[in-house]
Amino acid sequence: MRLFSALVVVILQAASVLASTCLQQQLGDSLSFPDDTTYNATVSSFWSIQESTLRPACVLRPATVLEVSKALEILSDSVECEFAIKGRGHAPAAGFANVNGGVAIDLTALSSVSLSQDSSMASVGAGAKWLDVYQHLDGSGVQVAGGRNGNVGVGGLLLGGGISHFTTKVGWGCDNVVNYEVVLANGTIINADKTNHPDMFLALKGGGNNLGVVTRFDLATFPQGNISTTTITYSISQSAEVFEAFTKLIESSNYDPLASLITSLLYLSATKTWRLSSSAVYTEPVTQPAFYDELFAIPHESLVNNIISLAEYADEKDTFSFNWLFATTTLKPSAENMQKMFDTLNSTIYSFNPEGGVTWSIALEPLVAAMLPDSGDRDILGLERACPGFIVLISALWPNSTANSEVEAKARSVLSAWEADAESKGLLQDFQYLNYAAPHQRPLHSYGKDKLGFLKLTSEKYDSARILQKDVGGFKL
Ligand SMILES: Cc1cc2nc3c(=O)[nH]c(=O)nc-3n(C[C@H](O)[C@H](O)[C@H](O)COP(=O)(O)OP(=O)(O)OC[C@H]3O[C@@H](n4cnc5c(N)ncnc54)[C@H](O)[C@@H]3O)c2cc1C
Ligand SMILES: *[C@@H]1O[C@H](CO)[C@@H](O)[C@H](O)[C@H]1NC(C)=O
Ligand SMILES: *[C@@H]1O[C@H](CO)[C@@H](O)[C@H](O)[C@H]1NC(C)=O
Ligand SMILES: *[C@@H]1O[C@H](CO)[C@@H](O)[C@H](O)[C@H]1NC(C)=O
Ligand SMILES: *[C@@H]1O[C@H](CO)[C@@H](O)[C@H](O)[C@H]1NC(C)=O
Ligand SMILES: *[C@@H]1O[C@H](CO)[C@@H](O)[C@H](O)[C@H]1NC(C)=O
Repeated sequence: MRLFSALVVVILQAASVLASTCLQQQLGDSLSFPDDTTYNATVSSFWSIQESTLRPACVLRPATVLEVSKALEILSDSVECEFAIKGRGHAPAAGFANVNGGVAIDLTALSSVSLSQDSSMASVGAGAKWLDVYQHLDGSGVQVAGGRNGNVGVGGLLLGGGISHFTTKVGWGCDNVVNYEVVLANGTIINADKTNHPDMFLALKGGGNNLGVVTRFDLATFPQGNISTTTITYSISQSAEVFEAFTKLIESSNYDPLASLITSLLYLSATKTWRLSSSAVYTEPVTQPAFYDELFAIPHESLVNNIISLAEYADEKDTFSFNWLFATTTLKPSAENMQKMFDTLNSTIYSFNPEGGVTWSIALEPLVAAMLPDSGDRDILGLERACPGFIVLISALWPNSTANSEVEAKARSVLSAWEADAESKGLLQDFQYLNYAAPHQRPLHSYGKDKLGFLKLTSEKYDSARILQKDVGGFKL
């Protein structure tokens, strides 16, 4: 009841746009207000400046699924109270997991991890980060398919798809979810699996935050020991050779199911320097995986290999206090086109150096056969229509917020030049990976008409009042 009355006050204030004084109420333990330590902790834990600059009227940190249920019951009953659903806050765009004036539901307290008796399934609280999961499973002999960077949230990553080091072996992260505990918009708690609420089960495998608030994911495990990680850096003058080798790998008919590759271009505007590197992970403890021979054979500046546990490798430092953007496209293989893309990119950003500088990173990630299902019932991503190729993640980070619109415009102009060019050569694919997409992109629409239609029907069935469509930010249907 205390939680209830406190929320009602906040809702009344938010609705009447009087969020300035969130009064001295008898608060539920899970609710906090501007300048409270817990409020501050949530707001400052977003990965991008754009997200952490938003100021919710209050933060709710539910400690149990029942509190999530109660909160949604209240929120869906109130008149247009905006709210946000936050996992680990790694979506860079403003308003995706935070909100100005409304209620930010921070799920990070729901972060328990447990392994079933027979080790076949890990149950993970939706607010956990991947490092929590890997560390819990470390030494058990099994692991799960999740984020490569351990700070990333379980919730966001799995609801948008999920590329892991094991994608080539087990498909998308979401393909490995066997059950979801979900709180519907009206507060009802359900479990969705293959037989119970199968439509919800399917829709959550790529549907983002449009179906409900997931509170727990049950994930299929697989046997896993230490992995091999190799970082190779090249001079930018080797780009043609690297693009050639990368293309050969993704075109090879028997892509090694143990390989996990990212090739990246990095540009520092302050010094006008390019860097080129590959992160060639192999999910068995093999020092020189033969699959990568061609990449290793290219003259390089450095090559560092480690045999390491997944938990240790995922334990990266977070890079806070930057503005960030993500944007994405998906292409068919062509080394020649990659070189052309590089030239377009260089000519667009070479001389652009806003105050404080900007760092661009272009990650090229194989879209391999294991990510492309034969039929449409494994997830909602629509990839049965796609062909092998690669996913491109454009990201940029910069410290000075006055440059935001200029950086965004540059990214947009690079992306549209790439897409127009690829389209004319028949190399453009429809798919836009939701977790890498810019706010102006339409990843859910990129899944195809049928998939979008199914998502809309499922949303209407489970959220007929359209609460999650109207009151919650992110990619909408
Ligand atoms: C440093 C870094 C590394 C990354 N590495 C990878 C990678 O290896 N593989 C990959 O596939 N992606 C990767 N990503 C992208 C990542 O998947 C997305 O940024 C993802 O959205 C992050 O999830 P989150 O829970 O941390 O983010 P949040 O910003 O908290 O949430 C993202 C979106 O999901 C929604 N959401 C979160 N949890 C729930 C829930 N329980 N119920 C309903 N909706 C929810 C939110 O409302 C929001 O719209 C990376 C991103 C970063 C910044
Ligand atoms: C919360 O953050 C604000 C603004 O950064 C700061 O002024 C305030 O002292 C912080 N409060 C607490 C309790 O940490
Ligand atoms: C796995 O790697 C870790 C370092 O991350 C090391 O401490 C451990 O001994 C390795 N385990 C095996 C079985 O080789
Ligand atoms: C990028 O463009 C600049 C300016 O046109 C040119 O001087 C430079 O050589 C280019 N860099 C690369 C690596 O092609
Ligand atoms: C940000 O950029 C603006 C305009 O370019 C400049 O006036 C300002 O000093 C910069 N701020 C910081 C903190 O660098
Ligand atoms: C909440 O929504 C679900 C799905 O539409 C419905 O089955 C259930 O009856 C609703 N519960 C309440 C209390 O309205």
